[in-house]
Amino acid sequence: MRTRVGIVGAGPAGLMLSHLLHRSGIESVIVEDRSRAHCEARVRAGLMEQWAADMLVETGVGDRLRRESMVHDGIYLAFSGALHHLDFQRLVGRRVTIYGQQEVVKDLIARRLEDGGTILFDVSDVSLHEIGGAAPRIAFTHDGRAQIIECDFIAGCDGFHGISRESLPEGALSIYERDYPFGWLGIIAEAPPVADELIYSYHQRGFALFSMRSPSVVRYYLQCQPDENADAWSDQEIWNELEARLDGVRPLPRGPIIEKGVTPMRSFVAEPMRHGRLFLAGDSAHIVPPTGAKGMNLALADVRVLAHALTLFYHNGDTSGLDTYSDTALRRVWKAQRFSWWMTQLLHLFPDANVFDRRRQIAELEYLVGSEHAMASLAENYAGLPVE
Ligand code: FAD
Ligand code: DHB
Repeated sequence: MRTRVGIVGAGPAGLMLSHLLHRSGIESVIVEDRSRAHCEARVRAGLMEQWAADMLVETGVGDRLRRESMVHDGIYLAFSGALHHLDFQRLVGRRVTIYGQQEVVKDLIARRLEDGGTILFDVSDVSLHEIGGAAPRIAFTHDGRAQIIECDFIAGCDGFHGISRESLPEGALSIYERDYPFGWLGIIAEAPPVADELIYSYHQRGFALFSMRSPSVVRYYLQCQPDENADAWSDQEIWNELEARLDGVRPLPRGPIIEKGVTPMRSFVAEPMRHGRLFLAGDSAHIVPPTGAKGMNLALADVRVLAHALTLFYHNGDTSGLDTYSDTALRRVWKAQRFSWWMTQLLHLFPDANVFDRRRQIAELEYLVGSEHAMASLAENYAGLPVE
């Protein structure tokens, strides 16, 4: 097989890249090691920055998003038993959109296939070759047969556990990282929302977050041990713990929990995001702790820059976008790293924290909700910094 851009991974990054390239008349092929059903059912992010939701609409994959998503003006911060509203619309003139990542993935897969795109699901043994030369290749097994895709460029959009990042030669990447001594226990439940917008709660029992997916489906998260066993929690224990930590908004409307899982928390950046003809995008190059809701948004921002760079190259023979891709993407990545770390350290209990640290966190929260400037700073980062 031969294509212009070989894409590894059918997550938000790989699918959106393929879609944007198609709109520029550039052919690509996606290889994905899981099934279509698995990709479409994977429950993950839920919050889109305004420009990201706009990009779906503007590029013709936003019909369902426009009908089914929920647009929020801001968020609530809960601490010391009270709720405080941050109105992003008033503070910075921007809003955020609630729309599940798996819905974005479904919409993009459907659209790629409708547009005649090629997505090879259920491949195995994916490996990258000659990424430093002019004719890179993706090798893999599909339907029991060994296959090769010859391409001009490869986009490594295969997430944190993919093979793309590891395909770079030893010493080509610098890694910057931090682990956190906690994780998130996340649930989806069939229950009415407890509030009209998300609630981030700082509590002496640990952080809790209320989010939603639709008017009848809610998403909650609880700070937990990094190696917590989600199955060790009964539904009632989860609801009781959520109610204890969201003490400014009791009682919580309860309902059947239809999904639960534990997410570890990590900050990670691999630099540069390019080696030869391989470009890394999304979680394959960077991970943020989920507190700032930045992961999917960053993945979409990376491929927006990459699609533009590839378009410049194919339409005008101009390599400048490709040459600056890594620096451009990393500027946004590091700002999102800073914000995600800041939200995380502000709202979570660290096991080695003492009373001083907790008083400092409360003081920072009180400062935040009492200062227009501090609230505007949170708002402009949360709702999404301008895209380049
Ligand atoms: P992925 O979505 O991981 O996609 C990579 C794809 O590559 C997958 O389909 C995978 O199967 C495939 N793949 C892997 N290895 C191979 C291989 N060897 N060969 C072929 N294919 C391969 N982000 C937000 O912006 N907002 C949020 O509110 C938010 N909340 C989150 C909550 C949770 C609980 C979690 C876990 C994450 C959250 N995130 C959030 C982060 C977000 O989900 C990720 O950043 C996002 O999925 C990154 O997209 P991606 O396309 O780079 O990678
Ligand atoms: C969701 C996830 C987040 O990490 C976040 O900060 C906000 C919302 C969500 O899954 O809805």
